[in-house]
Amino acid sequence: MARLLIAYSTVDGHTLKICARIQHVLQSEGHSVTLAEIGTGAMPDASHFDKLVVGASIRYGRHRDEVYEFIETRLPLLQRGPAAFFSVNLVARKPGRDDPDRNPYLRGFRRKTPWEPTVMAVFAGKLEYAKYRPADRLMIRAIMWLTGGPTDAKANVEFTDWAAVDDFARRLSSM
Ligand SMILES: Cc1cc2nc3c(=O)[nH]c(=O)nc-3n(C[C@H](O)[C@H](O)[C@H](O)COP(=O)(O)O)c2cc1C
Repeated sequence: MARLLIAYSTVDGHTLKICARIQHVLQSEGHSVTLAEIGTGAMPDASHFDKLVVGASIRYGRHRDEVYEFIETRLPLLQRGPAAFFSVNLVARKPGRDDPDRNPYLRGFRRKTPWEPTVMAVFAGKLEYAKYRPADRLMIRAIMWLTGGPTDAKANVEFTDWAAVDDFARRLSSM
């Protein structure tokens, strides 16, 4: 049995939902899993865990700065591993873009940090226009129009491949 810390960064809660699913899979295998939100001040000491996982969503092309701050301040622990990273974004709904080597945000991630995670994944996120501020809704609808996604202002679509999330959880178990 391993003790895992999953540190996550979310705006609308979808990354947390993915974390909860990973937690469920790992706990059913007998592991102990703690979830903690990056940037809230309630982060447990990462050195008290056997394995670390960082999960973060994309907003306007970037993982939030606090994600990189979290990584930078724990770099030796993360480098020692085992430690994993996953990203949540809408580009990953496109065929092939759910491959860490072919997702632009994972490429950006690799450029921004020297950390080389033991395991990496990228999951398609959720689109829910009703939740967004008007300016954000306009922008995301324009991006969806350009990229062939849903533009109906009532659209509420979860693109996440939950079987892929379960597979990732099992990879964490054995990493
Ligand atoms: C204002 C805004 C900007 C976004 N920008 C991007 C983007 O640049 N690229 C992308 O692939 N997805 C983008 N997304 C989609 C989010 O990554 C997706 O909705 C994800 O599920 C959000 O996860 P969270 O609820 O954990 O923050 C954006 C969403 C919003 C609301």
